[in-house]
This record gives sequence, C-alpha cells and structure tokens, in this order.
Amino acid sequence: MSSRTVAVLLAGGIGVRVGLGIPKQLIKIAGKAIVEHTLEVVNASPVIDEIIIVMNAGAIDQLDSLMDRERFPKLTQIIPGGETRNDSTQAALAVIDDDPDTKVLFHDAVRPFVNDRILDDCVAALDHYDAVDTAIPSADTIIQVDDASHITAIPDRSKLRRGQTPQAFRAGTIRRAYELAAQDESFHATDDCGVVFTYLPETPIMVVDGTAENMKVTEPIDVHIADKLFQLQSSSLAADEELPDLSDHVVVVFGGSYGIGESIVRLARQSGAAVHEFSRSSTGTDVRSRSQVKKALKAVFEQTGRIDAVVVTAGILQVGPLTRTKTKQIEAGIEINFLAPVIVARAAHKYLKRTGGQVLLFTSSSHTRGRANYGVYSASKAAVVNLTQSLAEEWAEDGVTINCINPQRTHTPMRTNAFGEEPLDTLLDPDNVAAVSLQVLDSELTGQVIAVRVEDIRDKKTT
Ligand code: CTP
Repeated sequence: MSSRTVAVLLAGGIGVRVGLGIPKQLIKIAGKAIVEHTLEVVNASPVIDEIIIVMNAGAIDQLDSLMDRERFPKLTQIIPGGETRNDSTQAALAVIDDDPDTKVLFHDAVRPFVNDRILDDCVAALDHYDAVDTAIPSADTIIQVDDASHITAIPDRSKLRRGQTPQAFRAGTIRRAYELAAQDESFHATDDCGVVFTYLPETPIMVVDGTAENMKVTEPIDVHIADKLFQLQSSSLAADEELPDLSDHVVVVFGGSYGIGESIVRLARQSGAAVHEFSRSSTGTDVRSRSQVKKALKAVFEQTGRIDAVVVTAGILQVGPLTRTKTKQIEAGIEINFLAPVIVARAAHKYLKRTGGQVLLFTSSSHTRGRANYGVYSASKAAVVNLTQSLAEEWAEDGVTINCINPQRTHTPMRTNAFGEEPLDTLLDPDNVAAVSLQVLDSELTGQVIAVRVEDIRDKKTT
C-alpha cells in the first residue's frame, strides 16, 4: 500500500518552562531557530512528501522567511496552532487531504535531532500498523507517587519507555480517534498516541526506537545540551574523507604562509579552488590593518568577480606571566588573535553576501577555560568563539555563514616556538586540520565550533 506522507511540525506552544520570553521553537542555536533545524532534517528526508508547520499564532509571522520554495520545497503551509497540543494536531488534520490512507507524522518542532533513520522507521512501520510511536528505554527508575508525594508504585523499568516523537498514523485512524475524543466530556490533554490508545483500544500502536539525542528542548538546561549536541554533530566531519570539490570557489586565506594556513592553501588548491593567500611574510599584509585587509579583498574581487570563503589563520601564541609581558606584546596578542578576525569578518561580509559564502576562523581548546601563562591568547580565542556565534545570527538572513575550527594541539611552528618539540603522536598534522576546514567550507554549517581531535583522526585511521 503506497501513499503520500505528510509531516506536521508542532510548534504551537510557548515554552513556558524554558522561560526565555520567546516561544522556544524560535530560540537560536548554532545560528538558526530550533524549528528551522528541525525543518531542515525533515525536508531532507526522502520518505517525507509534504510538510506543514503548526505555529504559535502570536509569532507566526516570524516564520515567513521559511516559506521559501527553493530551500524548503516540501513546506506547503504554516498554520496557526491551538490552545493545547491536541488542538494544534487537529488544526493540522483539518488542512490535510481526506484520503484515510495518507501517512501523517506529528513531530515536536523542538526536537531538532530527529534523524533519517527514525523518520524511515516510522514511515515503514505504517505499512503494517495504523499507529506508531517513538520511544527510548529509561535510564532512571520511574516511580509513581500520590498527592502527598508518597510512592504508590515502582513499575518494572524494563517495560517502561520514554515517549518521544514522531508519532505517526494513517490519517483515517487519528481522525477517528479525535472524533471519538470530541464526544467524551472527560477528555484530557494527552499526546496523539494517547488519543488512539484511549479511544481506539483495539488499534495496536507499534513503537520504534528513538535516540537519546532526539531530546525535547524543555527546560533551560536543554538549550545548553542542544548547543553542545550541534557541536558534536558538526565535529564528526571526517578528516580523512576525500577532499570536497571546490572548483569555481574563490578562497582567500589570511595568514597562509605556514602552519595550518599553509596546509589550507595547498589542500584548497588540490580541491580545485582558486586560492589567494595574504600574510605578512608573503605579501606584507598586516591583518590588523583595516585598510590593508580591505585592499587585499578588493584586489581579489576585482580580479575574480567573486569571493566564496575567507579564512583567517593568522595567530600568535606568547607564553609567560602577564605581569612580565611587555604591553606591546599584549596588544599584539589581542590584535592579531581577536581584532584581526573582527576586521576581516567585517570587511569580507559584503563580498560573501553575493555568493552566500563563509568566514572561517580559528580558536583554541583553551577557549573554554583560561590557562596560566597564556591568558591573553586563550581569552582572545574565547572572544573569537563568541564573535562566531554572534555573527552567525546577524548574518543568517544574508545567507553568509561563519564557523570556527577548534584544533587541538597541532604540529605547527607557532606551537613548537611556544612549547618546544613534543611527541608527534600527541599532535595533529596541520593537513588533517586543513581537511576538516575544507569540509566545513563546503557545508551549510553556521555559528559552529568544530573540534578536531587527535583521537578522532587516529580512530578514523584504524577503522
Ligand atoms: N505545541 C503545540 N501547540 C500547543 C502546545 C504545544 O504545537 N498548544 C507543541 C510545542 O510547540 C512543542 C511540542 O508541542 O513543539 C511539545 O510541547 P511542549 O514541550 O510541552 O511545549 P510548550 O507547550 O511550548 O512548552 P511549555 O509546556 O514549557 O510551555
């Protein structure tokens, strides 16, 4: 039995528990609203034919930009939600065709980590069942309590699951369940499988496996967890996969004469890109100088007519206690490591806007926690991360993306100068960092900090 499959993204709620004062589906993580991330995954799934978003009526205009035929060809409607989640479900059912065989998936818009496998399993299960739920085992023991907070039951954990979404149905089944619910005066809010379970008890509901990542952003802490999960997702970009095809791309690298910059220049050329490299030693370009940076970008644009990516690898690492570091050196540290990315990003924006291009910056693993004796360096690198996140949001509408690579200890002249020779198997090869960088340049990511770890590269090589 083949039929059409419609995915409904439920975004009709407010998100009182997250408590940020905007509907939580609009919270920006990794440069995009949560609902937009969810939409991207569902739109890209080959098993979904059409998508309807049910949005909180008070903020529905904020999703206008998603009605973009080119980006989201499957999205046909954004309709206002209802008071309860059940009302929002019914609002969607009211606009879906009346073929009872149509497959309908309801998915919480605030579960952006749903994946192709889960969507495939739900749609496939509907060939044999009329109702499908998604769930994972519970790590915690679930206890039942009464009004006085006394335990009344401890159900066997091995039989318990934590319900997620999608919940998927043949349209005729979910419609019938809601019709019966409408006749029941004692109906109380529940999820969509709950409506089928109560009103069509003879209908078996098949459960497919969810994933721990398919969490619902509900409490304030979930926003942090979701942010971290996006970072993990993007750091799985493999360093030893084939280089992307960057032919027709014009790539500008500031600080490309040695270390990671030199590797990026070389590998980007191998990938087919036209690469223009600027540095103090090769072209006399000082990245701290606004006029020199502007001049460099203008010269490239005049010659090539386009710029697709601007990479800043220039950096200096001075080690020593702050009180014994010369003011001039401190200033140089802040200027090269932080001011230069600001200057370059600002000057590059107008060119990248024409191509939907990307700025790629570099941070350091010390950005999460300052380290004794290189506080100016690690503080500047933390600032680079913050800048990346801010500009990803500012530039989302222009289609300009910005990311930041976080390479662990890398075998570069900068590092050897600061720390001396170290065992090679504890250091990343700059070519590995460059390979990941090129994959990021070839991706749609924005606002991300992409970690490149020695262990990840080693694991990849042994598997
Ligand atoms: N939802 C909906 N219509 C409603 C209420 C909720 O479409 N009237 C959606 C939410 O937007 C969310 C999903 O159902 O994607 C799960 O609901 P929940 O996490 O409870 O969301 P909120 O109601 O927004 O959160 P809170 O209970 O903290 O206010």
